[in-house]
Amino acid sequence: MVWTSHPVSSITGTLRAPADKSCSHRALILGGLAEGVTEISGLLEGEDVLNTGKVMAALGAQVERLGEGHWQVRGVGASGLRSPSQDLDFGNSGTGSRLMMGVVAGYPIQARFIGDESLSGRPMGRVLDPLAQMGATYEASEGKTLPLTLQGRDDLSAITYTPPHASAQVKSCLLLAGLNAQGETVIEESRITRDHSERMLRGFGAEVGVEKKGAGARVSIQGGQHLHAIDTRVPGDPSSVAFLAAAAMLSPRGGVLIEGVMSNETRDGFFRAAALMGAPVGAEEQGDAAGERLIDMSFESAALKGINVPTELVPSMIDEFPILAVLAAHASGETLVSGAEELRVKESDRISAVVNMLRVNGVEIEERPDGFLVQGCNGAIPGGGLVETHHDHRIAMSALIMGTAAQQPVRIDDAAMIATSYPDFKAHMAALGADIRGD
Ligand code: S3P
Repeated sequence: MVWTSHPVSSITGTLRAPADKSCSHRALILGGLAEGVTEISGLLEGEDVLNTGKVMAALGAQVERLGEGHWQVRGVGASGLRSPSQDLDFGNSGTGSRLMMGVVAGYPIQARFIGDESLSGRPMGRVLDPLAQMGATYEASEGKTLPLTLQGRDDLSAITYTPPHASAQVKSCLLLAGLNAQGETVIEESRITRDHSERMLRGFGAEVGVEKKGAGARVSIQGGQHLHAIDTRVPGDPSSVAFLAAAAMLSPRGGVLIEGVMSNETRDGFFRAAALMGAPVGAEEQGDAAGERLIDMSFESAALKGINVPTELVPSMIDEFPILAVLAAHASGETLVSGAEELRVKESDRISAVVNMLRVNGVEIEERPDGFLVQGCNGAIPGGGLVETHHDHRIAMSALIMGTAAQQPVRIDDAAMIATSYPDFKAHMAALGADIRGD
C-alpha cells in the first residue's frame, strides 16, 4: 500500500477527535474483568484495540459490537478468566500485549502471546522480569520477546518495583497483576507516565493510591479488589490529534478546530513543545469523559522556530517525536531532541526511522544515541522522498503530513499500519483539504 501526499495550500476545517487508543484498550480490559455488563461508547475501532477485544473474548469475556464505536462487554467477574484455546494474537500492539501479560499473570491459566514482525522484536523483559518476581512463570523467545507462553497463578505475591524505564505499559501491567496479587503492589515511577490505568481502575470501583514524588510518583494497589461494570465514553486521542495539529501549523493557510480532545498533563507534551516553537494552540474546556478532562483545540499556520525539547517533556510526548521532527524540519533553526532513547524500542527504532524519513526528503538531521538534531528548512522542506515506514503507523502518518507542506510530494512504502491506531486518518485529512492518494 504505497501512498503519496501531495503539497496543498490550505488545511482547514472542524473535526471530532478520533478516540484514544490507550483508553480504548483499558476500557475493554477492565470491562472484561469486571462483574456485570460494561457499555463503551466512542471506542477506537483500530486494529490494535480490536485485537485486545478478541483476546478478552478468548479469555472468557463476552465482547459485542452494538454499533459504530458502541461496544458491550460482559466481564468474567468472580468466575475469573479461562485458559484460551488458541494463541493470543496482539498484532502490532505493545500496549495490548504488555497489559494483558499483567492480567494473565494473576489467574491460574496459561496463554501463548504472539504478534507481528514489529511486536515480535520488541522487549518484553521489562514486564516479564517483575511478573516473575511476583511468581508468574514464562517461556519466551530469545531476548525475552514474543512468541512467549505465560503461566499465571491465583496467589501472586505483591512487590514494590522501580521500573528502569519511564513506562506506562510496565506500570499498568503491574497494576493489573497487582489487582489479583496478595498484598499491596507498589510502582515507584521516577518520571510520571500516562495515568489512564489509575483513573479507569478507579472508575471501575478499585482503590488506587497515587502520591506525587518529585518528577515521579508512588502508585499502589491492594490485591483482591473487585471491579464493577460501568458505562463509559472514550475521550479523544491527543496523539492522533497531533497529526492534524501539525498539518495546520505547517500549512500556508492552516486553521483547524478539533473537538473532544483528552486534556491530561501526562499526554500533552507535544502541544507544549509546539507552543515553545511558536505555534498558537487554543484550548476550550468541554466537560469530561471516563475520568478525563475534554477540550476543544484549535491550531493554525505558524512561523515555527527550532528549540531544545525540554527532557522533562519526553514521557508526555513519547509517541509524538516523529511528528515533532516534521515540525522541526519545517521550522527555522535547529531542534534538538535528547533523553529519548526509549524511541529505539517503539513500533520501529523511531530514532533511525525519523532520521531516514527526513534525509530522503532533503532535510539535514544528525542521529544521536538518545535523539536527533534537525536543521530546519525555514518553511521549505524539499520532499520528493520515499519513506520506509518499518511497520510503524506514526512514521507513516508523519511522512504524509510532511508531504502536505513540502515542495515535492512525499511517498510512503506501506500505509497498512495506519489502521492500527487511526483508521479514519486518510478521510480526516481529506476533509481538511489534504491530497493523499493511494488505495
Ligand atoms: C502506552 C504507553 C506508551 C506509549 C504507547 C501507549 C499505553 O508506551 O508509547 O503508545 O497505552 O500505556 P510506554 O509505556 O512503553 O512508554
